[in-house]
Amino acid sequence: MTRTRMDVWNLTHGEGDWPDALVAYERAVGLLRGLDPPTGQPVEPRGWRFLAAIHGIANAAGDADTSNPMWSNCQHGSWFFLPWHRMYLAAFELIVQDVLDDDGWSLPYWYALDPDDPATSILPPAFRDIAAGNDLHTTNRSFRANRGDPLPGGLAPSVTDALNADVFSTPAGTTTFGGGERSTPSFSGGERGLLEDAPHGAVHGLVGNDYNQAGEPVRRGWMGSFLTAGLDPVFWLHHANIDRMWQVWLDLDPANLNPTGDPAWFDTEFSFPAATGGDVTWSVGEVLDTVALGYEYEKTTAPRGVAPMPVPAGGGPDIGLGGVDMTNPLAPQTLGATPDVALSSTQPVPVELDQPVDFGLGAGADAGDGRVFLRIEGITGTIGAAVYDVYLNVPSGDSPSDHPELRAGSVSTFGMIEASMSDDVHDGSGITSVLDITRVRDVLANEGQWDPNRVNVTFEPVIPEPVDYQEGAELDSMAAIPADLRAARVAVVTT
Ligand code: C2O
Repeated sequence: MTRTRMDVWNLTHGEGDWPDALVAYERAVGLLRGLDPPTGQPVEPRGWRFLAAIHGIANAAGDADTSNPMWSNCQHGSWFFLPWHRMYLAAFELIVQDVLDDDGWSLPYWYALDPDDPATSILPPAFRDIAAGNDLHTTNRSFRANRGDPLPGGLAPSVTDALNADVFSTPAGTTTFGGGERSTPSFSGGERGLLEDAPHGAVHGLVGNDYNQAGEPVRRGWMGSFLTAGLDPVFWLHHANIDRMWQVWLDLDPANLNPTGDPAWFDTEFSFPAATGGDVTWSVGEVLDTVALGYEYEKTTAPRGVAPMPVPAGGGPDIGLGGVDMTNPLAPQTLGATPDVALSSTQPVPVELDQPVDFGLGAGADAGDGRVFLRIEGITGTIGAAVYDVYLNVPSGDSPSDHPELRAGSVSTFGMIEASMSDDVHDGSGITSVLDITRVRDVLANEGQWDPNRVNVTFEPVIPEPVDYQEGAELDSMAAIPADLRAARVAVVTT
């Protein structure tokens, strides 16, 4: 029988309502927490802290702990992001069903950035209920989220940006839905797909941490880091929604396909603790049909405003990162000079290319009607806003937010710290975001303002609305350590 993962806000009828699925979930979280030793390293594979450690756990030095081969395994910055997290949720759901002794229980999903319904960005009430012993509530979470503030509404376009992607994955350096191709699994780093980058990462940062009115983090909670995210019970509902968006994208256009023909993706296997002891192992190919895994989603219709960019005649972008080692696509020796661009100020960053960026097809030539992409490569740092809106060629003196037509997309910093570390599972090369700037190019070209070799890029931190309640105002005014984001290179790629 196929179960249905329901929209948590459709299950919830008003403030204070606890739908049955969450009453059961809260009990399960308590039972799973009870399997953990009270302190020290997790030991029981089905225990709550062990399950979170599969995503990531810090060692004493603050790096990813891999002393247990099951730990610090989450897949980010590549085409393994979506299938790995799908398996992680499936294994988790089986364990919850087992402790509840209810194989009809399904994980609800939280559609936190619904372009058609900003009200769903409020954390569902059961997670905010401060009744003693509520296992869905934690203070290791954004104060604002726990208070019931909505997420910044300006982030919704990142959802439509992601759904407009026309390929799941590509080694070509252009935008993807699912992430860059990679021959081996990777904990962090590499090239993120649009879905992983902005709607996914933004929700992590804004639900996990609090930011002041400069966009700098002033309080950090579990959802904001790979190494703690799975500890927050809402993590699993956020990821159910991200998993659902994969199906939304597939249903959107018959041309949207999974890269099933590529064994480097299709045949890669990952293992998780099984509900009844031992492990469960899936290959990517085995999890592509949610019904075969036992579930479907209440709703997989796309939001309004999704208008996939037509693929240009001739079959679409065909550019190759010739000779780049895709196990480490940012290897500096293959990219030449790395200008080290500061992204931490809202001042425009002039990206002047003294020679065209050559991705193998004469990029930098007159873009004509082809598509144009902005690659922000090798983003590293320790502190930054949760998410930045990226604008091109904002007239000097103007505020970027007054120019929505010049918004190229959003870039989140979830995973940036991890991708900046060098340890067992990180190479320190940072994360890469790719934005489709074709529409902005068209706007600029119409005004005679487009030159692919001279582009001004502005990174505008997305800041929660100021609030009038006292604790929020205190957070707003708290000083933090200034953001220190850098990118190894910003490049314009034309097709
Ligand atoms: Cu592995 Cu939402 O993160």
